[in-house]
Amino acid sequence: MKKISDDIVYIGVDDLKLDLFESQYPLPEGISYNSYLIKDEKVAVLDTVDGSMAGEWKANLAEALNGRKPDYLVLHHIEPDHAGVVGWMVAEYPDLQIVASAKAISMLPQFFPGIDFSGRSVAVKDGDSLELGEHTLQFFTAPMVHWPEVIVSYDSATGCLFSADAFGKFGALSRCGFFGEDDGDWACEARRYYFNICGKYGNPVTTLLTKLSKLDVKVVCPLHGPILRSNLEYYLNLYKTWASYGVESEGVFIAYASIHGATAKVAEQLADILRAKGCPKVAIADLCRTDIAEDIEDAFRYGKMVIAASTYDGTLFPPMHSFLWHLQVKAYQKRTVAIIENGSWAPASGKVMREMLSAMKEIDIIEPVVTIKSAPDAATTAALEALATSLL
Ligand code: FEO
Repeated sequence: MKKISDDIVYIGVDDLKLDLFESQYPLPEGISYNSYLIKDEKVAVLDTVDGSMAGEWKANLAEALNGRKPDYLVLHHIEPDHAGVVGWMVAEYPDLQIVASAKAISMLPQFFPGIDFSGRSVAVKDGDSLELGEHTLQFFTAPMVHWPEVIVSYDSATGCLFSADAFGKFGALSRCGFFGEDDGDWACEARRYYFNICGKYGNPVTTLLTKLSKLDVKVVCPLHGPILRSNLEYYLNLYKTWASYGVESEGVFIAYASIHGATAKVAEQLADILRAKGCPKVAIADLCRTDIAEDIEDAFRYGKMVIAASTYDGTLFPPMHSFLWHLQVKAYQKRTVAIIENGSWAPASGKVMREMLSAMKEIDIIEPVVTIKSAPDAATTAALEALATSLL
């Protein structure tokens, strides 16, 4: 059993069986549901795990408790991937007190109908503390750092921040490393996780980061992914960029949706021209075949994006429509976007893409829209050369 400090033990589990997180995000390396135990004069369990992994988690809990009984169950976030074993906990330990935000306490009966949480729940708000002995957890509300009921907590004795979904990532700990320094590429899957799970909530994440800036955080213990205990500035700076919708990497992301291959050919040609002109990075994605969560991540990563799509049934080819709708939902903003449309007799995809972009904040569209009629020709090459110059 891994220790975070003398008194803080990791009791979470890896899930290598789940195919899609939230029934939509592929998990090529699984995911971890993190949970912690603080053993002091009082014993606190910090969050549980997804109900599908209850057996392994209960075994970890029993081993860590080593005969003691938990006094508190702190719930930082009650989404089912973390609160799946709450019902069992309150039945197993009748004297256990639930510690959570008032919002979480009000929502618990929705997830556990028939369980009476009254008289055994302690609502905490910003700045409230829970004394365990040597360790005292100080709570900070973090509404909409995914859900409205979220809190984080800080233990000044160790500098541990229990950060809920913030600073989480996809990937089981057995695959990506238990501590951040063991993880070969934390940012890759942390970025896909952030923009798809929390991307819409940049302002609440920024508010939380401001609260945390007053603390001497030495270890970040998220609800998913590795425990971060070195080079914390690196993670923090990435989060500041992501939460403010800033540009992380210089370059251009080209996203295309092509029916018979001509639009794909144009997208690849533009990528070649950009590279030849010295563009620092060109990322390109076939929206019909890639993981849309990866595409969303890349859209936020770069400051400039080109969207290229066929016309279909008099409107926009659905894979591009789905991509842009996802971006709108995730509050895509503050970016420069160029449009390439294709249509053999009545090109309409450009108009629809422009309309969808107009629903997003602070999007600069590069003019003119490049129009292809069926297949690229000499005029297309000239238009792509001009577009590349505008992008650089
Ligand atoms: Fe990992 Fe928002 O739950």
